Amino acid sequence: MVDLASLVVDVPDFPRPGVVFKDVTPLLASAEGLAAAVDAMVASVPGGVDVVVGLEARGFLFGPPVALALGVGFVPVRKPGKLPRESVEVSYALEYGEETLALHVDAVGPGDRVLVVDDVLATGGTAVAAAGLVRRLGAEVVGVSVLLELTFLPGRALLAEHGLDRVDAVLTSDA
Ligand code: PRP
Ligand code: MG
Repeated sequence: MVDLASLVVDVPDFPRPGVVFKDVTPLLASAEGLAAAVDAMVASVPGGVDVVVGLEARGFLFGPPVALALGVGFVPVRKPGKLPRESVEVSYALEYGEETLALHVDAVGPGDRVLVVDDVLATGGTAVAAAGLVRRLGAEVVGVSVLLELTFLPGRALLAEHGLDRVDAVLTSDA
């Protein structure tokens, strides 16, 4: 059995002092680790997902293999200025500053059951913003799936406040 937690490496003081960055690149570089991580994400997915929505950038690393395993398509939520056609956008606060996310208006719609995929759930701001875009287009978010949940931050609670109760994480970290 591959030890997935050992393949996510803590990098202190990146990208700024006081922050511990969770580096998933060793996991991605491990054939066994990548396969086990994707298998574990897929195993917890609620039934009836029609489409995976992945969040730029690191949600693009896990979203497509999860979508392939589920036999559904993949839709990117992108940072501003990247999508070429009509899009909906949302801006949300980060710890320092602001971020904007965008989604093509025809990417999802009423009746679609969406799984939101990202690498890390921290404060939850990114996932909540992305879920808001999906919902604005009339689709339903049936789950949020991440590789790693930082349990010392209230991300899960923020998601619950926004009606996102189905949140699955392969790994958790309390520091
Ligand atoms: C990171 C991570 C998640 C998000 C989690 O993305 O990949 O998307 O932060 O944080 P939150 O729960 O507090 O919103 P980031 O925007 O740093 O960079 P990326 O483009 O490398 O994914
Ligand atoms: Mg990200």
